[in-house]
Amino acid sequence: MNIHQSQFATNENCNIKVIANDTSLDYPKIRPQRLHTWFNLIPVDEYEKNRPKKILFLDSFATVVKQSNSEEVPYKAFFEGDKEMSVVVRHGIIFVWYGDDLTNPDRPFPTLFENPYPTKYVTSVPTIFENTHVMDFVENGSDNLHFRHVHKWEHSKIYNHKITPDTITLEQDTRIHYGRCSFNPFIRAMSYILPTLILKHDYAYHGPGIAIVGAEGKGSPESHSMVTLTPEGENRTRVYVTIAMPETTFPPLMEKTYQFVTGGTRKLCEWSAGVLANYVKNEFDVDAVIWKDRKVMHQYNLLRSEKHLQNVIDWGKTFYPKDFIAPSQPEEKTDDEREWLVLDSERNIRQGKIKSYKIGTQSVIAYRDSKNIIHVKDAYCPHQGAHLGVEGRIENDCVRCPFHGFHFNSDDGNCRGSNVDNERKVLEGLHLKAFDYRVVKGKVEVFI
Ligand code: FES
Ligand SMILES: [Fe+2]
Repeated sequence: MNIHQSQFATNENCNIKVIANDTSLDYPKIRPQRLHTWFNLIPVDEYEKNRPKKILFLDSFATVVKQSNSEEVPYKAFFEGDKEMSVVVRHGIIFVWYGDDLTNPDRPFPTLFENPYPTKYVTSVPTIFENTHVMDFVENGSDNLHFRHVHKWEHSKIYNHKITPDTITLEQDTRIHYGRCSFNPFIRAMSYILPTLILKHDYAYHGPGIAIVGAEGKGSPESHSMVTLTPEGENRTRVYVTIAMPETTFPPLMEKTYQFVTGGTRKLCEWSAGVLANYVKNEFDVDAVIWKDRKVMHQYNLLRSEKHLQNVIDWGKTFYPKDFIAPSQPEEKTDDEREWLVLDSERNIRQGKIKSYKIGTQSVIAYRDSKNIIHVKDAYCPHQGAHLGVEGRIENDCVRCPFHGFHFNSDDGNCRGSNVDNERKVLEGLHLKAFDYRVVKGKVEVFI
């Protein structure tokens, strides 16, 4: 989904700045990327297949050198090619420690599975998420509301949410039509054919880079699952899903027949684990759409029921480098500093359709309500910063946020929660900012 981004060009005739399209995005560096924790540098199979000279890692790169077979750790890793890192090879992944001291981790490598299976742990191909910080994934797992609105799960309840210095653990009861939220029409169609899953999830985050996910219930095969994250470039995250299944997953005859047909190169349970790993990561694709254009706020406006989410955010900060200083929040412009800028032609703003713009550093949305009145609002949701022009929509003359489904009134900007039929309900503290506008010779001008 493209956002109309803009830069100024002066219109000399009327002393009003006209906006031209631009595609650059300013990524706020409110959260540091160089967290001090264990990361997946690269899965062994991916390394062995391509033997890359450099592996994108953090805002830089790392290199891997294969040791002789007799070495205890079969791979060495070097940050920026020459600074040796602490390496642990576990479940088919080369994990590295990043911190001030690259060879002496502040935190020991965690035990990921108490009783690992003897079968192979198979890792998906990576998915690269733009403008996504690894903490987005961690916050996401504790964000109960979003499962319903982003993933379209019928039920989600999070409980036993516990935070220790090294881990976050939680349990979640769910009812899911898996793939219902997918952008892929085939996967979405499958979600109507496949049975409803009633699953209990167990999550364990071992630092921001590694999550173990357990699922038990009707329709879920016994398996070990892990999501591992690699920050790369300035603001991207590489995501891998790893799954293993025990050999008892399929009847022995089926397993033996598969091995016979494939010449014994792989087990059926391992092939299935690979298929599942590559399928499961589809579920993140819908999150990615929101994360890509989301504003990372200095402070989210969380509901009282979301206190545990603030604890997750604070936990993430314990992995920051000690010398990290967040950039200060830009000051709001005073009326003297604001000016009238042309937003768009009046006729381009349509009833019930959100249009997105960027004017200088300000992102706004514009639409007409059912009485044909134009509204120009802040593009970012005051709750957790989702871009309202990306998958947001107009419902009952309110702007509906795509992240948690909250509705904001067109007239006063008040938030009415996700159930817009409850007319009296207003969520305190959540208010969508409006911008003054005027129409001059068919052009909408905004006071920014
Ligand atoms: S970010 Fe939560 S409702 Fe908009
Ligand atoms: Fe999500």
